[in-house]
Amino acid sequence: MNRECVVVLDFGGQYNQLIARRVRECNVYCEVHPYTLDVEKLKAMKPKGIIFTGGPNSVYGEDSPQCPEEVYSMGVPVLGICYGAQLMAHQLGGKVETAPVSEYGKTEVKIDRSGALFRNVSDSTICWMSHTDYIAQAPEGFRITAKTPVCPVAAMENSEKGFYAVQFHPEVLHTREGTKMLEAFVKDICGCEGTWKMDSFVDETIKSIKERVGDGKVLCALSGGVDSSVAAVLMSKAVGRNLTCVFVDHGLLRKNEGDEVEAVFGPEGNYDLNFIRVNAQQRFYEKLAGVTDPEQKRKIIGEEFIRVFEEEAKKIGAVDFLVQGTIYPDVIESGLGQSAVIKSHHNVGGLPDYVDFKEIIEPLRMLFKDEVREAGLELGIPEYLVFRQPFPGPGLGVRIIGEVTEEKVRIVQDADYIYREEIANAGLDRNINQYFAALTNMRSVGVMGDFRTYDYAVALRAVTTSDFMTAEAAEIPWPVLNKVMNRIVNEVKGVNRVLYDCTSKPPGTIEFE
Ligand code: XMP
Repeated sequence: MNRECVVVLDFGGQYNQLIARRVRECNVYCEVHPYTLDVEKLKAMKPKGIIFTGGPNSVYGEDSPQCPEEVYSMGVPVLGICYGAQLMAHQLGGKVETAPVSEYGKTEVKIDRSGALFRNVSDSTICWMSHTDYIAQAPEGFRITAKTPVCPVAAMENSEKGFYAVQFHPEVLHTREGTKMLEAFVKDICGCEGTWKMDSFVDETIKSIKERVGDGKVLCALSGGVDSSVAAVLMSKAVGRNLTCVFVDHGLLRKNEGDEVEAVFGPEGNYDLNFIRVNAQQRFYEKLAGVTDPEQKRKIIGEEFIRVFEEEAKKIGAVDFLVQGTIYPDVIESGLGQSAVIKSHHNVGGLPDYVDFKEIIEPLRMLFKDEVREAGLELGIPEYLVFRQPFPGPGLGVRIIGEVTEEKVRIVQDADYIYREEIANAGLDRNINQYFAALTNMRSVGVMGDFRTYDYAVALRAVTTSDFMTAEAAEIPWPVLNKVMNRIVNEVKGVNRVLYDCTSKPPGTIEFE
């Protein structure tokens, strides 16, 4: 596909994905590649701009990552960030030293607004710093465009050559005007028009899949989650009836979820594809009988999923292409393209590798999660599917402590349904990033009417998080919790107590397993 592209060269910093996301938010397509990327390959990509990321090294360290000198003579604008800024200074003849005082955190930076990155930025602005080395002296031909009391060269530029550098991190939201700086780089300096939009991505992808697949047969494992749903719809628009989606209902889905997926993708649904729903609930319950260890439950569910999927694939016969919902963070996190296929498996516990297919298609491989959602909306997928919360592949199997039984699944489904309904009624659903009910393995004495009960306790979980790596328990207003508690104990048979989990992650996890 012929599109304007900015390349991020990754020197190992922790915010590298964010740089690419921010550039894409400017509607400019952006790819992350390791700094070891072959220069000829880089040239062949015809980038409109190059960004060097931060990284943990010191430019003077042994084996510190360097950039091939040729990159500076490509005639393409370069922006160095943090380590990338120091590297640029070092390689072009400036001086990098250990700073007398490390700067870490939000820092007030004095800006020279005549700098090309800073035309729309305030004279003094808060930026996120995280460095122990600094640029002590800018290379010849550069002028200094920002400073802090500690950092003599917080930003520098050589506009004639198209080289720009910032010691702070414009990609992090703590840098208040960082997005404006990145936008100035990609638009004003690199001259990108900002043509990366999901409608054109969808059209171009459908076209290229059509060409690649021709009359071939395509198989897709559909979980009902955002990624596999968007991948399936995209494929169906490209190959129509040559696509078969296999949806395995393992009996561990949220209440009504199986029917909802079928309503959208099944014969009465919105798409022209072959849909196979495999009702394998009993099969999974039988395999899980008596098993209490969470890891073992995960393994059993993953393994059984593969077996069911494989049986269906065999019934369909030789398939040319297998579709996977791999997305860009999977690609980046799994080593920039070296083993991208592997992580996408975790949703379904791993797909069989000996099903008879010739090639894998990953239509969302270059998209971030929010872009996948946007593409989903573009494809006309209903909003409630597109904005789904994350849901683990092993489903309620990991939200039931102890043995999984059909009865326990019913309890947790009903409790979860009420909880989700009340959170939505209270208008909290867009503020809380993930919330669900889980079933503890604890039964205790209660009283209902004039009768003694000895029933289960349901645990409610709700977290706010931006990356799902760390999380805080959400502060749900008491009246809402009270209402949820009331409804659950009254409406869900087998429950006489409701607990709220106020643990953050760490030390807890988001799931309750
Ligand atoms: P934890 O419990 O590890 O979860 O704090 C972090 C996020 O990952 C989700 N999660 C999963 N997602 N397959 C998935 O696709 C899984 O097996 C799985 N286990 C946990 C969890 O819901 C949370 O959003």
